[in-house]
Amino acid sequence: MIEEGLVLGIETSCDETAAAVVRGDGTVLSSVVASQDSFHAHFGGVVPEIASRRHTEVITAVVEQALRESCAGPDALDLIAVTHGPGLIGSLVVGVAAAKAYSLAWSLPVVPVNHVEAHLHAAFLHSPGEDPPVRPEYPAVCLVVSGGHTDLIAVHGPGDYQLLGCTRDDAAGEALDKAARLLGLGYPGGPAIQQAADGGRPDAVPLPRPVVQGYDFSFAGLKTALARLVEEHPPASPADVADFAASFQQGVVEVLWATTYRAVADLRPRQLIVAGGVAANRRLREVFAAGAEKCGVRLAIPPPHFCTDNAAMVALCGIEVYRRTGPVAPDFDVFSALPSPGDPGEKV
Ligand code: KG4
Ligand code: ZN
Repeated sequence: MIEEGLVLGIETSCDETAAAVVRGDGTVLSSVVASQDSFHAHFGGVVPEIASRRHTEVITAVVEQALRESCAGPDALDLIAVTHGPGLIGSLVVGVAAAKAYSLAWSLPVVPVNHVEAHLHAAFLHSPGEDPPVRPEYPAVCLVVSGGHTDLIAVHGPGDYQLLGCTRDDAAGEALDKAARLLGLGYPGGPAIQQAADGGRPDAVPLPRPVVQGYDFSFAGLKTALARLVEEHPPASPADVADFAASFQQGVVEVLWATTYRAVADLRPRQLIVAGGVAANRRLREVFAAGAEKCGVRLAIPPPHFCTDNAAMVALCGIEVYRRTGPVAPDFDVFSALPSPGDPGEKV
């Protein structure tokens, strides 16, 4: 039974090379993430060609380390799961080619995983010997909030998704990364904004709270307002930068919560799942924890290291995909754009 088996997950959709070994119940036996931050920091963003070359250099070492740390040899594995989109094509190709090669060499089935659906599973991972912090409960509402996505998804059952809304312009993480650049903060921008915001006042700088009808989001107005204010009143001291950072962070978090709250109030789910790199944000976690408690909905949010990109979430999601699809022919492709879970859109 694959549910009780061991899955090797591989993730290379952007600038982290990651591999993990996860048991079907969500127990993480190993999770290795090789960050490329130092290679891209100088450019203020991910350089696709550098990303794919770096993945090529380290992918086998990362997989070997994940196997070693899990104390499971290839013989103990039952499945390989790999991200095949959305993401940078040159990066995805490296992980998918590696996964297909291991699948052939070790005679194991391999399944392609949607990166956004993988994020949705991160809340259910746990360490050996620990009880799962939460188990999936349905219906659920899930907010995936990352560098490329801001998706609100209703989860009616395992693998049964309905996309409620998404961003009409920038993703929340993208907005934070751009704001960090405007404020002269480091890369990646989200953690830099969080750190700078620590000493700042969240109400110091007047920024709008763009509200979109339905369950969509918009962050372009917030970003443009910040750019205009920075141009008119350039921050003159670290305290000013802290105020700008804290105010922008508060704006992003309030916009995220306002729409999520509407979905929770309308759909009355049993569980609210929050995932993706921006879910690592401390202010977001405080606001969502308080909001969920007020609404009487159970919050499932992974620890920060499973919010950002990792392969453990890909492995766990792979089990669900395998249950849906069974063995997949090894000629599957990679996609820079893949419809989010519950979206009938096009693969590109
Ligand atoms: O999920 P992720 O690692 O990669 C994508 O799938 O995009 O998310 C990366 C995004 C980046 O925009 C990064 O700035 C943001 O997550 N991020 C954070 C924090 N850690 C990562 N944003 C705010 N606060 C953080 N602590
Ligand atoms: Zn991600």
